[in-house]
Amino acid sequence: MEDEGIEPDVVLLTGDLANEGDEPSYRDLVAALEASPATARASLVYVPGNHDRRGPFRSVLLGEPPDEGPINQVAWHGGLRVVALDSTVPGEDHGRLDAETLDFLSDALAEPAPEGSLVVMHHPPRPSPIAMMAALRLANADDLARAIEGTDVRAVLCGHYHHAGASHLGPVPVWTGPATSFVADAASAKEFRLLPGGAITRVDVDDDALVTSVIPVGPGRLGVGAGGPAPTR
Ligand SMILES: [Fe+2]
Repeated sequence: MEDEGIEPDVVLLTGDLANEGDEPSYRDLVAALEASPATARASLVYVPGNHDRRGPFRSVLLGEPPDEGPINQVAWHGGLRVVALDSTVPGEDHGRLDAETLDFLSDALAEPAPEGSLVVMHHPPRPSPIAMMAALRLANADDLARAIEGTDVRAVLCGHYHHAGASHLGPVPVWTGPATSFVADAASAKEFRLLPGGAITRVDVDDDALVTSVIPVGPGRLGVGAGGPAPTR
């Protein structure tokens, strides 16, 4: 990636980090992030998606033994807490927070953080207007809603749909970020139609507000995103 003046404190990689979930792809990802002035100095939070595989993901990206359990993490930036959850179901493309992950979330949120919490996961809890993607959403959104009710969670940040979108779980905003590899056309409900290009989300957080802004990427811009078409979800 080329430096375009973006200097994030934290980079949240919300899943499907390698299409085949293999170790060489993860090593390529690490090399690209380390080579980029925009990400080399940032704290990185790797979150798995349905294309990722827990064993290689753990061993390459987290430096951990290749255990097959859910990859749940807590990261801090100052007083802001990031709770990164594994919403994947091995061998499936839809999402679900299993009992271990829901317990992890409740434990992580037991005490309020000085600047609140962000929950990050791959699968959005609310449907996409694209039927195929809607079927692959988080299957147990109600469990997530119950787990964050009355806590300090300021937003839920997701990926997966390949198009940007905003929703909410009760009073908590839900942001679905776009993808770097291609754009899914939200104008088409029945057909999964791919458009060239890609984007990332800039998230600005201060005491009063959290603001999301979509930044296009692709050839000639940050150097990521081949312009699709590519993987199917
Ligand atoms: Fe996905």
